[in-house]
Amino acid sequence: MTVMPQETAPVVLITGGAKRVGAAIARQLHQVGARVMLHYRASATAAEALAAELNQQRPHSAACVQADLLETARLPDMIHHTLNCFGRLDGLVNNASSFFPTALGNITEADWHDLIGSNLKAPLFLSQAAAPYLRAAGGAIVGLIDIHAERPMPGHVVYNLAKAGHAQLIRTLAIELAPQVRVNGVAPGANVWPEGESVFSDPVRQRIEDSIPLQRVGTPEDLAKTVAFLLFDAPYITGQIIAVDGGRSIYLP
Ligand SMILES: NC(=O)c1ccc[n+]([C@@H]2O[C@H](COP(=O)([O-])OP(=O)(O)OC[C@H]3O[C@@H](n4cnc5c(N)ncnc54)[C@H](OP(=O)(O)O)[C@@H]3O)[C@@H](O)[C@H]2O)c1
Repeated sequence: MTVMPQETAPVVLITGGAKRVGAAIARQLHQVGARVMLHYRASATAAEALAAELNQQRPHSAACVQADLLETARLPDMIHHTLNCFGRLDGLVNNASSFFPTALGNITEADWHDLIGSNLKAPLFLSQAAAPYLRAAGGAIVGLIDIHAERPMPGHVVYNLAKAGHAQLIRTLAIELAPQVRVNGVAPGANVWPEGESVFSDPVRQRIEDSIPLQRVGTPEDLAKTVAFLLFDAPYITGQIIAVDGGRSIYLP
């Protein structure tokens, strides 16, 4: 991948960019020369530490913005903050997501609000707010989906719906924003196990790992490299979702 000179360096806003996959995406994009706006909700310390690390490598190449993505009215402010800070916007990575089980019979409206809000509604309204600037820059949007957008994960009704909606949002925006803006998705399989208490017990993790044709769990870097490719090196790709899952979705049990 070509490293871009700093004076024309593109600017990318990454939601949920403080930790885990979002942080790997920020590092990868920064490594190839982009300037990054790291959005976070609660992970202020991690976001500020990452921005400081990246600014040490290249001054004024990273900054942070805080927002709860469920507060839709605040989403345009994130775009304006990025423009005020860096003067342009070339890319948006809709990465932030809430993830928890919702078994049929116990689903609440609060579950719906949280899962649909972070995984679908925010990507739509943030993309809408970013669209004029991305159009002007000839930019791109990448969304983090999930292989379970296509093949539902048991016990996760609302999450499955939210990711399926995000997948359709990718294809819809690819049409709405063409030809100036390309819009694509990356669908992880098992890449980074969820933090804290989780439905992924050790036996479940082992069963999943055993079902992956490439015989390993993915890494955040596997995802980050694909995001960078779709943003900067894929001028004739739009409306597509690439599974980065070691082949697992080929025969998901
Ligand atoms: N990890 C995997 O193996 C895997 C598998 C399938 C799909 N994915 C998808 O890949 C993406 C990244 O995965 P991940 O595991 O790194 O995600 P994650 O750690 O579960 O979540 C990323 C960030 O989302 C932010 N977030 C959640 N709700 C928010 C809200 N209402 N407002 C603002 N920010 C909010 C949190 O920011 P704060 O910490 O700042 O609060 C969190 O750090 C997600 O879209 C996920 O669904 C990942």
